[in-house]
Amino acid sequence: MTRLTSSWDIPDVAAPVSDFGKTYRPFAHEGMYDFFKAARREEPVFYCPEIGYWVVTRRKDILPIFRDPDRFSASIALSPVTPFPDAMVRYLQENGFGAEQTQVNCDRPKHTRVRQVAAQFLNMKVFHSYEPQIRALVTDYVEGLKGRNRVDIVDAMTYELPARVLFLLMGIPDSEARKIKEWADNRLLMTFGKLSEAELLEAGKGLLDFWKYCQRMIEDRQAEPRNDYASKLLEVRDGDDSVLTLNEAASLVFGVLLAGHETTTNGLNNVLLELLRHRDQWERLVAEPDLIPNAVEEGLRFSSSVIAWRRRALEDVEIGGVAIPKGSNILVALGSANHDESQFEDPEVFDVARKNAREHIAFGNGIHFCIGAPLARLEIRIVLETLTKTFPNMRLVPQQRLDWVETIAFRGPVRLMVDLEG
Ligand code: HEM
Repeated sequence: MTRLTSSWDIPDVAAPVSDFGKTYRPFAHEGMYDFFKAARREEPVFYCPEIGYWVVTRRKDILPIFRDPDRFSASIALSPVTPFPDAMVRYLQENGFGAEQTQVNCDRPKHTRVRQVAAQFLNMKVFHSYEPQIRALVTDYVEGLKGRNRVDIVDAMTYELPARVLFLLMGIPDSEARKIKEWADNRLLMTFGKLSEAELLEAGKGLLDFWKYCQRMIEDRQAEPRNDYASKLLEVRDGDDSVLTLNEAASLVFGVLLAGHETTTNGLNNVLLELLRHRDQWERLVAEPDLIPNAVEEGLRFSSSVIAWRRRALEDVEIGGVAIPKGSNILVALGSANHDESQFEDPEVFDVARKNAREHIAFGNGIHFCIGAPLARLEIRIVLETLTKTFPNMRLVPQQRLDWVETIAFRGPVRLMVDLEG
């Protein structure tokens, strides 16, 4: 089963806490990039006592971690950063919560087997076969915006759109979009945020409902196969548990129903925010739409929607000259790697024509590299193409306050007020 920890999941290993390490605020997003810049210069690998993780900030130290899954386990990628209350763990266990490690938090050899099955459906060819439907969906949202001027683009479009795209692939009716978004929001906060005990207990009920929903989906598709992800998993399984068990199939659905839209919502919001903040770059895309695919990469680089990810050291290791004991938790700061001056010239400049923008690691690297990356890229590209064409004069509403959800991993503004007609 997925790791349901009710105590701090911090191994009993000695970790020196430096003055610098004490100043890192892993849940705060304001000023994060300035902090990372200082970290890369002054103390690129440090221990953060607030969460009990070693934080690694330089690209050249992060890549070897991703590329060495035998020494750096992904098993803690979805462990709750704030421990679940005992009562909640009991409640989930007694009521049949059974999501297991299948992909992003699963190690080899199981990961290899499961990813091969998932990739029969989650692949470039299938994603691109949905392009006409994705375009139609984006056009629908944009048509609905015409005639309005001041809108919160998150509420009006980017919060829901990636979920509805994913639902096309999953065979889920639109009427269930908001419910699943709420479950996913809760799950994200429970896993990566710092909810109070009361909030966690309440969110636990939603987590169980979410899991049961995924189990039911597998049962439904067993009875009545369709052209969707769950049906494909069952077809490839063909009744053989050594290929994929039914519980693994439900766990894969449970995984993708979070990974497949929260990330893209943030990706869209981040790139829109940066394009409108750097208005000359927006105007460049309006004039030169061929630059849009590169602007998608620059958006992911400059403002990564997954700012940090997690691994655990399976043996004593050395990272950037720092000795890290076996069993330590490691936070790899993807956002920092994507601003690393040793890889990107003038990293703090947002440049839609940047030549090596695609060298970012916003989708991770190695065996867990994001399986949905082509879909995310396609969605963001279509949205930018449609918005720059329909609302070339779009501007940010000046002096608005930006709020970020407080998590250690996901980053994106929760609201983005724009004037569509300038
Ligand atoms: C901008 C959007 C997205 C970003 C920034 C993003 C980022 C990431 C990252 C950082 C990882 C972990 C990689 C690692 O550990 O090396 C990951 C894994 C994953 N992502 Fe995405 N993702 C995005 C969109 C999507 C979409 C649209 C889907 C589904 C269709 C998806 C499904 C997955 C899955 C299933 C994994 C686990 C892969 C594995 O362990 O084999 N992601 N993603």
